[in-house]
Amino acid sequence: MDYKQYIALVDDWPKPGISFKDITPLMDNGAAFKSAVDEIVTYSKNRDIDLVVGPEARGFIVGCPVSYALEVGFAPVRKEGKLPREVIKVDYGLEYGENVLTIHKDAIKPGQRVLITDDLLATGGTIEATIKLVEELGGIVVGCAFLIELTYLNGREKLEGYDVLTLMQYED
Ligand code: PRP
Ligand code: MG
Repeated sequence: MDYKQYIALVDDWPKPGISFKDITPLMDNGAAFKSAVDEIVTYSKNRDIDLVVGPEARGFIVGCPVSYALEVGFAPVRKEGKLPREVIKVDYGLEYGENVLTIHKDAIKPGQRVLITDDLLATGGTIEATIKLVEELGGIVVGCAFLIELTYLNGREKLEGYDVLTLMQYED
């Protein structure tokens, strides 16, 4: 499926110079959204995944339907101050800002095989931070799946050695 027809490009949002890739039209179309989720599920099937992990907020949108289809759990990675119990945290930079991500300390058991999901791979800062959290808890990252990759921001360089799936690529 040509998913790009369901991505709205918004120039200069949320800041001047950023061309925002809005996935809400894709989510709004049942057939397109199902097809995108199914592709990630198919990619995941032979990877023996125990748990899906995704960073808020848009990583939940992709990760939760995938975890449901795989019949495995979903563990949220959230911005600081959002998770109520004991967490570990990591600082990260992203395409247009700086932040802290956290995960509950008991969210992953050592040795669990983890699929990480997000909507977008840009600089890779968010996913690099998410991988750090997963690995600090003893999880094994067996795949990273995204709807969109902004190839010009070279996020893949941060993911060397990891298996990466992206459904759409943008060169500018
Ligand atoms: C966006 C997007 C990815 C991340 C990609 O999230 O959803 O998570 O940026 O950028 P990176 O590869 O440069 O890290 P954002 O932090 O804007 O928050 P949201 O998902 O809560 O909207
Ligand atoms: Mg995000």
